[in-house]
Amino acid sequence: MTKTMADWRRMKEAGEKIVVLTAYDAPTARILDESGVDILLVGDSVGNAVLGYDTTVPVTMAQMLHHSAAVRRGAREAFIVTDMPFGSYQCGWREAVANGILLMKEGGCDAVKLEGGTEVAPVVERMVTAGVPVMGHIGLTPQTASLLGGYRVQGRDLPAAAKLLAGARALQDAGAFSIVLECVPKELAAILSSQITVPTIGIGAGNGCDGQVLVCSDMFGLYEKFVPKFVKQYVKLAPLMREAASQYVQEVREGRYPDDEHCFTATTDYRPLLDAGN
Ligand code: KIV
Repeated sequence: MTKTMADWRRMKEAGEKIVVLTAYDAPTARILDESGVDILLVGDSVGNAVLGYDTTVPVTMAQMLHHSAAVRRGAREAFIVTDMPFGSYQCGWREAVANGILLMKEGGCDAVKLEGGTEVAPVVERMVTAGVPVMGHIGLTPQTASLLGGYRVQGRDLPAAAKLLAGARALQDAGAFSIVLECVPKELAAILSSQITVPTIGIGAGNGCDGQVLVCSDMFGLYEKFVPKFVKQYVKLAPLMREAASQYVQEVREGRYPDDEHCFTATTDYRPLLDAGN
C-alpha cells in the first residue's frame, strides 16, 4: 500500500527506517517499487546519472516533468518525490508554487524536494500552504555546490553545524515533511535527527538518520565516473552490461545471432514470391 504523509512521522516515532531510492524511468521504477522501497525520488541527479551532464545545474523543469511522469507510470505503490531543478524555486514564491503544482499535476509526483535551509523556508511555507508537500535538503546541496567550495562534507565546525540545525528547524517550522541530510558527519546527522520531529533521510550522513537514500545508478554500479565514499555498490552492472553488449556485437558479426530459437517460422509457402516479377 502506498504510504502517506501520516506515515513518515509515525515511522520516525516508531524507529522504522524510511527507505528511499532514486528512479528516472518507468522500468526501473517498477523494479524498485517491487523491491519494497517506501519513496522513489526522481532526483535532479538525473542530470549526472542519465543525461550526461557534469552537474545538476543544467537540468530543466521540462526534463524533470518528463522523468517524473515516466516514474509515475512505472511505480505502483511507492510514494513519489520529484526534485525541483535549479532555477525553478529561486525567483520568487509564486513561480515556486506554480512549478511545484506543475510537477504534481503533470509529473504525477506526491511531493517535491528542494535544496536549502533557512533561506528557502519562506518559499517552502508558501508551497505547503498552497498544497504542495515539500521535502527539504540541507548539507551538501549539489545545485549550489560551487558556493560551498565544491562537493565536500558539510557542518565540520560548530558554526557550520549550528547553521545546519537552524536550517533544519526552519524547514520543519515551514511545514517540510522530511529533510534530506547530504554529506554531513554521522555524529552531527544523529544530533540533527534528534532535534527535529520530521524524519531525516541521510545520504553520506551515517546510520543515525531516520531513513536513507541512494542514487540507484550508484548502488547498481552503473555510474563508473566517480564512486563517493558513502556509496555501497550492491551489484556492478556496468561490467555485466559491457560484457553482454560485446557478446551481441560478436554474435551479430559472426552471423550467430539471431539463431533459430530467436526467429519466427513461416506458416505460408512463400515460394511463389520467388517467381514474382519474372
Ligand atoms: O538528486 C538526487 O538524487 C538527490 C539525492 C542525492 C538526495 O537529491
